[in-house]
Amino acid sequence: MDTKVIKVNSENPEPAVIEAAAMLLEQGELVAFPTETVYGLGGNALDETAAARIYAAKGRPSDNPLIVHIADVEQVYDLTKAVPEYAEQLMRAFWPGPLTIIFDKQEKVPYGTTGGLETVAIRMPSHPVARELIRRSGICIAAPSANTSGRPSPTRAKHVEEDLCGKIAMILDGGEVGIGLESTIVDVTADVPMILRPGYISKQMLEAVVGKVAVDPAILEKPKSGVRPKAPGMMYRHYAPKGELVIYEGEQEKVIAHINTLAGKKAAEGYRVGIIATEETKSAYEKGWVVSIGERSNEKTIARNLYHVLRQMDEANMEFIFCEAFPTGSLGPAIMNRLSKAAGYHIEKIS
Ligand code: TXA
Ligand code: MG
Repeated sequence: MDTKVIKVNSENPEPAVIEAAAMLLEQGELVAFPTETVYGLGGNALDETAAARIYAAKGRPSDNPLIVHIADVEQVYDLTKAVPEYAEQLMRAFWPGPLTIIFDKQEKVPYGTTGGLETVAIRMPSHPVARELIRRSGICIAAPSANTSGRPSPTRAKHVEEDLCGKIAMILDGGEVGIGLESTIVDVTADVPMILRPGYISKQMLEAVVGKVAVDPAILEKPKSGVRPKAPGMMYRHYAPKGELVIYEGEQEKVIAHINTLAGKKAAEGYRVGIIATEETKSAYEKGWVVSIGERSNEKTIARNLYHVLRQMDEANMEFIFCEAFPTGSLGPAIMNRLSKAAGYHIEKIS
């Protein structure tokens, strides 16, 4: 398949571009587009054939459900069986934006979209391109992250091209995304809302609106056998670079000294060594290929660059990747969740 890559103005999308993409979606084809979190791979959420195409293009396991993207709150009532009062508060507070909510589904949402589940994940994105595309097509758009299953999520159109060129009809290139980590997922099918995936909308932000919020215990640490996360996608080893990634947590000076010793040793043995540092620490490293992921003083920059840096490490064929930890701040849980998964939960505490 010939994949058209088309530039689109991310603030003010050109109607002709949106129209062309919407037509493809109406025909059951797939279109990748920018959202405020990561690029999504869109198809008609109510058309099982389109959903099947999404799974095929990504090489995604069929039991890992898709998020349905809407542009109008009213669509929620059409797709779900019940909307609790506290869910409406969350929708009012955080939509449009990087929050996905899990509801009991109506029959019209096919199992081919929900991975066989009785629930459906819904999100109203704030990115103008995503919003216009949903509006113009008149379709609820199922959109997982637009990467090959197991690769880091795409935060630039170039990442989507690397993974999906030749497999989908169109890529809308709206430049770099703003947040860089996938949406927070909250399940509202029980009395207390539960976070199934941490993201830009933190537990504290949710609690400020609805009071007590639980966190799926299965996502806090390395998955144990027999404990299944409620979001099937949290089970898979995601975002993994090809090299061996290890994260070092602890006092900054000690972490730097430890990584310097290890990097020196591995480099002397002839390995290609990558180091994921920050603007504040990058000049302290002596060996290896040092890449700055962003500023410690502004964790948003770290979230935005995380997947890009993991892809860069792959491109440069790094065999060992040593990375600082970024556990603090409002984005800390989301950043560390993605990093830990990328490292296969290989985190060492340095004291
Ligand atoms: O920010 C985002 O959410 C991006 C953009 C494109 O919107 N999308 C995204 O989709 O991250 P994806 O498919 O990469 O991740 C969806 C996650 C998976 O972990 C999946 O298991 C979970 O949502 N999920 C979807 N439907 C679910 C459901 N009914 N119950 C529990 N988890 C669900
Ligand atoms: Mg994904």
